[in-house]
Amino acid sequence: MRLYTYFLPEESIENHKYYIVIDTLRATSTIATALSVGCESVTIVSEPEKAFELKKENTLLLGERGALKISGFDYSNSPSEILKNAAYFKNKKIILCTTNGSKSLLLANSKGITIAASLINLKAVLQYLITKKIDDIGIICSGTDGKVSLEDAFTAGRILNVLSKQDITYFNDESYIALNLANIPHTRILQYSIHAQKLKKMGLDKDLTMCFNESLFNVVPISKMNENKFKSKIDI
Ligand code: MLT
Repeated sequence: MRLYTYFLPEESIENHKYYIVIDTLRATSTIATALSVGCESVTIVSEPEKAFELKKENTLLLGERGALKISGFDYSNSPSEILKNAAYFKNKKIILCTTNGSKSLLLANSKGITIAASLINLKAVLQYLITKKIDDIGIICSGTDGKVSLEDAFTAGRILNVLSKQDITYFNDESYIALNLANIPHTRILQYSIHAQKLKKMGLDKDLTMCFNESLFNVVPISKMNENKFKSKIDI
């Protein structure tokens, strides 16, 4: 099994059969939450203008700039906001536009089948990868504004911690580094993560609690290559 990790989407990323994209705070947590409350799909865009273009009757626009709701959008990039309004999200199509998550999700999906992973859907993603015997995976962490993010590397470590026990694995250096973060207590990660501190200062504690609630949702958001549209457990 080949398990390579990339702490930033800007790195030179090798070809892999599957890509797992992580943006623990908060984009991939938002995607998992939206599909868990019954949204039909989550389409990723990089610019708000593109989202407005795609807006249709049964569509909701979600997104942030500076972790705040983009002006004119329906909701921010907030898992707790989705949960609070779950009934309104059912069967809706979501268009998601975020700063770092959008970039890494679009990059990965231009290269291959992509899974959106986070702590919030950890177990479901691991079960899917093990059941499907997927043996060549590139884990792409989104980072924050071009800098490596602790929470994404930690989530990668949690994934590697289980997959590496499945089979002979070939790691790149970043996988080894991430693996060594896997057993650090959540509280410590939240304490030291720059982005977590920023969200805390903005009063977004509910999102921090949700995004670190491991395996809360049994959902595996997947997008076929170049579709940039995540749905739950599509057959590939
Ligand atoms: C991002 O994609 O940049 C993040 O998810 C930002 C955030 O909403 O906290």
